[in-house]
Amino acid sequence: MMPDSGAIAQAARFLEEGKLVAIPTETVYGLAADADNPAAVAAIFTTKGRPANHPLIVHVARDADLSHWAVDIPSEAHQLIAAFWPGSLTLILKRAPKVSDAVTGGQDSIGLRCPSHPVAQALLKTFRDGQGGVAAPSANRFGRVSPTTAQHVVDEFGAPGAGPIAAVLDGGACAVGIESTIVDLTRLDTYGPVLLRPGQVSVQELEQVLGRSLAMAAHDAPRVSGSLDAHYAPQTPLVLVETDNFVKTLAELQAKQRQVASLRVSTNPQAYAHDLYAQLRSLDQLGADVILVEQPPGSTAWQGINDRLRRAAFDSLGVLERLLA
Ligand code: TXA
Ligand code: MG
Repeated sequence: MMPDSGAIAQAARFLEEGKLVAIPTETVYGLAADADNPAAVAAIFTTKGRPANHPLIVHVARDADLSHWAVDIPSEAHQLIAAFWPGSLTLILKRAPKVSDAVTGGQDSIGLRCPSHPVAQALLKTFRDGQGGVAAPSANRFGRVSPTTAQHVVDEFGAPGAGPIAAVLDGGACAVGIESTIVDLTRLDTYGPVLLRPGQVSVQELEQVLGRSLAMAAHDAPRVSGSLDAHYAPQTPLVLVETDNFVKTLAELQAKQRQVASLRVSTNPQAYAHDLYAQLRSLDQLGADVILVEQPPGSTAWQGINDRLRRAAFDSLGVLERLLA
């Protein structure tokens, strides 16, 4: 199942040659390039169709020297790294001067993450003997649902070799299933630590390690970043419906002869996150008029999921009214 050391060594060589490689991480699959090669990083943007001012996360091996990427690393970063790396937490730090603008989108900061997936770990350890950095956004076209299997990546970009991607390392289905939690530590003096994107590493866990509360990006600490309101969206309009209205809404749509794909909530947020993007992809393929999603609970365990669903539903305002008219 897992790629062998030969496939991983070949992928590391592709990266050194400036090619793109799709890699499994525990969150979602990434579209990876050598972060020290601006031309390779530029190819990520053209392949994804992503605006050039959206910064990328740089993935590093366990013992990588972070001073290659960041300066003035605060003690809060070391606390969070000790608690959550390798894992699904990205830290935004002040960038080192030599980091390419292609990676940072011209910002004065850099996103760093050490993923725990064994294949990602093995690749990062092999690439430049563990001292390189791999820039990788999620391996999907801009604005679309992130891939959580190797097949999803092939569905997005075509088979490796034929399309823009030299290799796709198949590491199985991603364990977490939604993108990493992002914490901004560049504005500690004014805002303290700021949550830019919720994920499986929860606000509670972060606050416990830091011994202080997090500011929320949208409210207390605005920042221009890639957190667009509309994102992670299937092609079919997606509408969130409260549990109390779910059955009634479904019946009303069916009475109007509408084709409805639906996703009910489950009891386990980890299992739900694990399956979410695969579910959205297969529901999308039904070609229904709408994907009706039952609104999950508001508790912290569901925060990352609710964030992605809210963005996926963003462009669908008014769809229900139109389908029921
Ligand atoms: O789980 C993940 O984080 C996955 C896997 C592949 O590691 N990656 C991922 O990358 O989700 P991407 O590019 O799809 O989303 C990264 C988000 C974007 O919204 C980007 O704007 C934000 O992180 N970001 C990256 N660097 C940043 C920075 N320096 N300042 C603010 N936001 C940043
Ligand atoms: Mg993405």
